[in-house]
Parts: sequence; structure tokens; C-alpha cells
Amino acid sequence: MRPVIRLLSGILLFLTGVSCARAAEVAIACSALGREFEICKQGAETWAGRSGNTVRFVSTPNSATERLALYQQLLSAGSADVDVFQIDAIWPGVLGAHFIDLGPRMGNAPADHFPAIVENNTVEGRLVAMPWFVDAGLLYFREDLLRRYDRPIPQTWADLTETARIIQEGERKAGDADFWGYVWQGKAYEGLTCNAIEWVAAHGGGGIVDQSGTITIDNARAERALTTAAGWVDAISPPGVLNYEEEEARGVFQSGNAAFMRNWPYAWALAQGADSPVKGKVGVAPLPKGGPEGRHAGALGGQQLAVSKYSRVPEAAADLVRFLTGPEEQKRRAIVGSFNPTIRTLFQDPEVVRAAPFIGELFDVFANAVPRPATVTGEDYNKVSSAFFNAVHSVLSGRAQAAQALATLDRDLKRIKRRGWPQ
Ligand code: GLC
Repeated sequence: MRPVIRLLSGILLFLTGVSCARAAEVAIACSALGREFEICKQGAETWAGRSGNTVRFVSTPNSATERLALYQQLLSAGSADVDVFQIDAIWPGVLGAHFIDLGPRMGNAPADHFPAIVENNTVEGRLVAMPWFVDAGLLYFREDLLRRYDRPIPQTWADLTETARIIQEGERKAGDADFWGYVWQGKAYEGLTCNAIEWVAAHGGGGIVDQSGTITIDNARAERALTTAAGWVDAISPPGVLNYEEEEARGVFQSGNAAFMRNWPYAWALAQGADSPVKGKVGVAPLPKGGPEGRHAGALGGQQLAVSKYSRVPEAAADLVRFLTGPEEQKRRAIVGSFNPTIRTLFQDPEVVRAAPFIGELFDVFANAVPRPATVTGEDYNKVSSAFFNAVHSVLSGRAQAAQALATLDRDLKRIKRRGWPQ
């Protein structure tokens, strides 16, 4: 080989060696609710293109309860199959020990996000996940039908029940035999905990366990809330609602077969999408109050990104998290997917507000959203939530009266507490 060619091929080999050593493959587990997977993929691929790394996508079940079980399985086995986990707002306590501390790797970025979420994601002084988007339960309604039936946006659950019944009767008479008044998430899983905590808080019945760790759920207002909700099943809500998650409710509402729906912000971009039969007919409002003593209550939810302690590429994984949770991506996701940003300044961004007006208009719903008792119950949260959603499901399906179910739940929660969270 001529010296100059030898030199050139030497340089080439050196450069390939450098880029091989630096390029990493990062596996990310994204949720797939609606268009979530596709939107996650677009973001991660942008990062891959810019950084010279590659990404692998791991799909996960839609149900938060099933997703948690999968994550627990992977993490307790110390698996390196997933580097970046999309985690629920209620999981930092349950899963935090398996994640690296992102604090030292994120620079000043956490200061741009809502402090309450950063605090929620901080476990024993370690930032175990970066905020990605914030959720709150919202009431979706058909603007055109409220107009047709001359009804206002319901302010209380009693108003909603009545308006849903009137519209349902009218639409069925007009020939839509499959029409229902109200769809929501009634399956026995984490989504039902969110719906039911909203009913209970709306009636002034507290939040299952209060911030000091006291169990508060066995009370007359909670009983009224659950009895009211049980009355919807097979009256204004299809019997199948007892097996609905978010996507089943959206399917019925978006195909034009329901007057009202309880769902998270992601449903907005889809209901208003080009191919949606209800495009241009949908409004979003705070969920109703229980009554004069109650309040508008949307459950606080949302998703974070965390890096596994078992990752072989933690620095590249943290870099992906930094990009996905940063302002450019949060803005894009708010516009294309109506995911509420966790970066405060984006709430006033004109393009965001134009794409999803409720992000600006319902700021208070997000600011006052009802948290689930995840921080106070720590590693026991999932047990607490399972006991709650199973008790609620037994009432909704007519297997138990609310008073009896709440008394049993109170006993079960006390048993969990004795072995677990602080007295
Ligand atoms: C959404 C929320 C999450 C909640 C889940 C329940 O994904 O972001 O916080 O636990 O719905 O289904």
C-alpha cells in the first residue's frame, strides 16, 4: 500500500473506531395510548439522528397496572433490556430504587419544570425521573349536542347525570340506538382509581389516605360518590364501561356515540384529528362538582422518564431523557399530541395554546388537580390503589353496597398500613 493510502485508511479506521465507541443503542419503553407510541418514536428518532446514536423501542401495555407489573418484572431481574422507562407520576416511590439519579446529569433543566412534579420525582434526595407531561382528568363534551338540547355545561354530577340522560334519550329516539350519555374508565385498574378519587374528592370526601398517612376513605361523602357512580352503569353509561380503559371510552366518544367522556388531555388531539367523526364538535371542561359542598376535581397524573440502574449505556440514556423532556420536544408533543408540558413557560406559548386551547384555559384544573396518595404510602401505593379500585369495582358492578365496600376497604387498608407506611 502506498504510504498516503495507508495514512488515509488509518485515519478512516481511527474515525470509525471513535464513532463505534461513542455510538450507543438506547432502548426506550414508551406507552402506546392513542398516538403516544408514534409521537414518542418521532422524538427519540430526532435525538438519534442528531446524536449519532440509535434507539430501540419497547412497546408496553396500555393499562398502567399491567405496565407496572411488566416494569417490576424487568427491573427486579436487573434486566438491561430497557434503558429508559416511561413511568407514571405514582411510581417514583414504587420503582425509584431501580433508577439512576438524574440530578447531576440534567444541569439546570429541572428548575424549568413545575417544582411539585420535580419534588414528586425526588426519592430520598435522588431525582429518579424527569417530568415529561402532566395529566389531569377532564370532562369532554359534545358542544353541538349541548346546543341542540339547550343544556349548559354540567357543573355538578347531578347536572351531568340529567343532561346525559336527556341527550341519550333524544339521540336514541332520533335513531342512534348505540348512543350513551357518559363514558369513562370503569375497569378494575389504576384508571378506575383516578376516576373514583375524582368522584370522592368532588363530593368533599377526601383522597383515600391523607397527607399524614391517615386512612380517610370510609366516610359518608365517599359513600354518596360511589353510589352515584354505580347508578350510571346501564343507565347513562354502557354496562361495558366496567371493562373500559382510556381507549375504549375514547373509541365510543370519538365515533360520535356518547355525549360526555372523562379522559386525559391526549384525547383532545385525537378527537380533533382530521379523521375524527367529532372534529369541531368537542369541548373540554373541568369535571363536575359533587354538589355545593364539593369541588371540581381532576385526578393528577402524568408521565416521567427514568434511566435504569441496570442500563449499560446510562449516559446516552440520560441524554435521550434530557432531549425528550426538554422544551423543544415538550412543545412539539403539546402541539401534535396535546400532551400538557411540565415546563412552565410553555403554558403561555401561543402555538401550544392555539393547538390545545384547554392547556391555557384549564390551567387551574392542572394546578389544583387531586393527587393520589403515592408519596405518603410509598412502596405500598400499588397495594393501596388495588384495594381501592377493587372495592369501587365491586360497588359499580352491584356486588356490594358502597357502605359495606368502604368498611371492608378501610379494614384492608389498615392491614396494609400496619406492615407499611408511617403511622
Ligand atoms: C394516565 C396518567 C397516569 C394514570 C393513568 C391511569 O396515563 O398519566 O398518571 O395513572 O392514566 O390509567
